[in-house]
Amino acid sequence: MPVEAKVGPSILNADLSDLAQESQNLLNNGADYLHLDVMDGHFVPNLTFGHTLVKCLRNKIKKAHFETHMMVSRPQQWIEPMADAGVNLYTFHIEPVMDEVNDVCRKVRESGMKVGLALKPGTDVTVVQKYVDSADLILVMTVEPGFGGQSFMSNMMPKVEWLRENYPNLDIEVDGGVGPKTIEACAKAGANMIVSGTAVIQAPNQRDVINLLKSSVQKYTNKACTHAN
Ligand code: DX5
Ligand code: ZN
Repeated sequence: MPVEAKVGPSILNADLSDLAQESQNLLNNGADYLHLDVMDGHFVPNLTFGHTLVKCLRNKIKKAHFETHMMVSRPQQWIEPMADAGVNLYTFHIEPVMDEVNDVCRKVRESGMKVGLALKPGTDVTVVQKYVDSADLILVMTVEPGFGGQSFMSNMMPKVEWLRENYPNLDIEVDGGVGPKTIEACAKAGANMIVSGTAVIQAPNQRDVINLLKSSVQKYTNKACTHAN
């Protein structure tokens, strides 16, 4: 089954005091899902929000697909609260739980959410071989996690290429510095789930940017499709 192109804006650099409205605008402008960056001030040197806020957002936005990007030292701790808050996809970093990744994946699935595995820039992509069967998505970070608005690391693209080559049907997500200037590299390498923060949030026309990101990816996913037939 060919993978689908999807754009999930990161709300990290949005006006968080008006998160429901900001999120609704993104969805009205074509966002396929919302990427919610959860930081604990320990795994990364920044602090955002937790499950209580996500639950409040879910109360106002009933239907959208929510991904939480868990930049936290103890991803096990937040599985049940995030499931209860209405999260659909629970993406956690493997680095702090390297020996228990499969166990954490199992718990996430048991709670009813899909599982994403996130890799920091310094983490070797081949480690996912051990866990990929337990995951629905692999997130290749294209900046050091912690802050929005950083520069895209193009040297992460070989990781995406390797994943696409080895797992043609896997959802591969990129996150960090992705926007109109860097989407081509991501799409060409094989990413199909695109997180974009500042490039979408600060755009004068969000819909245009979301459409551009999506169509850039579709160019390549459709190509892959044609080859397969
Ligand atoms: C970084 C976050 C990203 C980031 C995206 O730690 O995981 O989701 O905020 O924002 P931009 O696109 O501005 O890098
Ligand atoms: Zn993120």
